[in-house]
Amino acid sequence: MVSYKELGLVNTNEMFKKAMAGKYAVPAYNFNNMEQIQAILQACVETKSPVILQVSSGARKYANSTLLRNMAKGAVEYVKELGYAIPIALHLDHGDTFELCKDCVDNGFSSVMIDGSHHSFDDNIELTKKVVEYAHQHDVTVEGELGQLAGVEDDVSAEKSTYTKPEEVIEFVNRTGVDSLAISIGTSHGANKFKPEQCTRNKEGILVPPPLRFDILEEIEKKLPGFVIVLHGSSSVPQDIVKTINDHGGALKDAIGIPEDQLRRAAKSAVCKINIDSDGRLAMTAAVRKVFVEKPAEFDPRKYLGPARDALKELYKHKNINVLGSANQA
Ligand code: G3H
Ligand code: 13P
Ligand code: ZN
Repeated sequence: MVSYKELGLVNTNEMFKKAMAGKYAVPAYNFNNMEQIQAILQACVETKSPVILQVSSGARKYANSTLLRNMAKGAVEYVKELGYAIPIALHLDHGDTFELCKDCVDNGFSSVMIDGSHHSFDDNIELTKKVVEYAHQHDVTVEGELGQLAGVEDDVSAEKSTYTKPEEVIEFVNRTGVDSLAISIGTSHGANKFKPEQCTRNKEGILVPPPLRFDILEEIEKKLPGFVIVLHGSSSVPQDIVKTINDHGGALKDAIGIPEDQLRRAAKSAVCKINIDSDGRLAMTAAVRKVFVEKPAEFDPRKYLGPARDALKELYKHKNINVLGSANQA
């Protein structure tokens, strides 16, 4: 058993309390490798933002869970070296079984998500409650999910979205004891969140997707005053990055994300955690493709992963400062 406390990590309780009071959202950035964790930490230290480092089950398979845990341990030392000891949580993203969540609690995670959203309401409650009972014995915080996000992304998929039903949230939260709740209000995973025909064009000819269902969020806030809400699928899919990818041999079609103003509005509400993965993937891909096209003789991985890391860091700094509002809150 390795407790997250031994690693110098924190659970999400204090982070969310401050985010709720300060009307901002804590960034939850996924990582699978060294350059990603470096970019996240550098960006969050430079902007003085708390951070949730997210690991999916796919990331654990890809990178090895022992290595990832030790990277998170290293993160605590690294931010001190960078000059500012921001609070860091290590969170399991989209845990799908009790066994996986338990394994993470037993191996240094300070927070876990149990995603039972594809089960029936009662089965979701039963599974989530079991995870909460175990995790809370170890002071580990738990995120549950009600409602399903649209989109397809590796292990995480749902053909169509089912918005969270506000009438179900009180019972779910009371019966499970979760610390936070991921809801479905129109976000989805991946880089193709909307079909162009679902969007309208603004004066500049840019596609504008349908707005998030803030009416559902507000109803949930009324039912659960002060309760922490989480937004998944919150990448904005910046069109300049998509263009760079496509101008350098990529073939991304109809890549559309959540407009930043929608996320800014959400961050000021009970939404205290915003999950972003795809934008980071896009930023790295654009930077790597650019090096490969502009310097085809280059074969030192540091020469393309370095620029990818720099691009990622700038993207995260921008999010913390201008979108989530988490800058200067650590
Ligand atoms: O929501 C899913 C995250 O973007 C993680 O994706 O399962 O491909 O690691 P992944
Ligand atoms: P994006 O695919 O929009 O980045 O969402 C990531 C996410 O929700 C991770 O859990
Ligand atoms: Zn997600």
